[in-house]
Amino acid sequence: MRGGHKNNIGEKVIFSGKFSMPPSLSALLIQIVALLISLFFFQMVKLVLDKIIPIPLLIFLQASIASLVAVFCRLDWWWWLIQFFFPIAIVALLVAAFPPPYYLIAFIFLTLLFWSTFRTQVPYYPSKASLLPFVAAQLPINSHRFIDVGSGLGGLLIKLATLRPDCHFEGVEIAPLPWLISCLKARLARVSINLMLRDYARLNFAYYDVVFAYLSPAAMPALWEKAKAEMRAGTLLISYEFTIPGVPPDLCINSGENAPYLYIWRI
Ligand SMILES: C[S@@+](CC[C@H](N)C(=O)[O-])C[C@H]1O[C@@H](n2cnc3c(N)ncnc32)[C@H](O)[C@@H]1O
Repeated sequence: MRGGHKNNIGEKVIFSGKFSMPPSLSALLIQIVALLISLFFFQMVKLVLDKIIPIPLLIFLQASIASLVAVFCRLDWWWWLIQFFFPIAIVALLVAAFPPPYYLIAFIFLTLLFWSTFRTQVPYYPSKASLLPFVAAQLPINSHRFIDVGSGLGGLLIKLATLRPDCHFEGVEIAPLPWLISCLKARLARVSINLMLRDYARLNFAYYDVVFAYLSPAAMPALWEKAKAEMRAGTLLISYEFTIPGVPPDLCINSGENAPYLYIWRI
């Protein structure tokens, strides 16, 4: 993550003091500011030059201003693109004039899929299959309790449960749609996994021998605080791809060509 700093629950914030806010809110504010500047410019050109700026040009102006302000505020690079294409996409969809129910369906689908991503800063994306043998190798023989924090569609858990029937597997997922799909997949695969729909912050990590997480850089400080406070001595915290700032892992494992590393901390 570039720029900004992290607040006490690991959210990246920009600005400082009382204006600190997560990127989702900053992005919204930036878009509103860009809209107001564009409208002001529109009015000035109309008043002073007696000319009307064509709407496509006005939209392009708003998109460019929003994107530039995102750069200036040191938001991550993907926000620059989002800020640029967001107003253009809105106008394109209005022009396409899809029937309103389509928007409602899309809204419900995206809400159930991403749920509270604006707060957690952890969207759904699956881990690579190449990870499986490396995680399985970390599980000692016989009924060790493993949890996938943010279990998504349950792919990793189902494969692990098939590979290691001697262990006890659990998953916790905050978003309803991935959780529902993971339950259906587990039933179809006939594996016994405990899949919970809730925020992992509400679980007690003391119950687990291995806590696996594939979250995001923003989530790592809070995950580490929880692991430190609750996990028993000798148990393992495993993170795929993301490190904990200032806490070097005990082990780094290359999980395949062009695949992210697996980082392991022994508590
Ligand atoms: C990158 S995906 C990883 C999916 C899965 N573990 C895998 O390896 O394929 C991260 C998941 O964590 C979920 N998540 C984010 N914050 C969470 C929280 N506080 N509690 C539970 N799940 C969370 C997201 O909804 C998302 O599905």
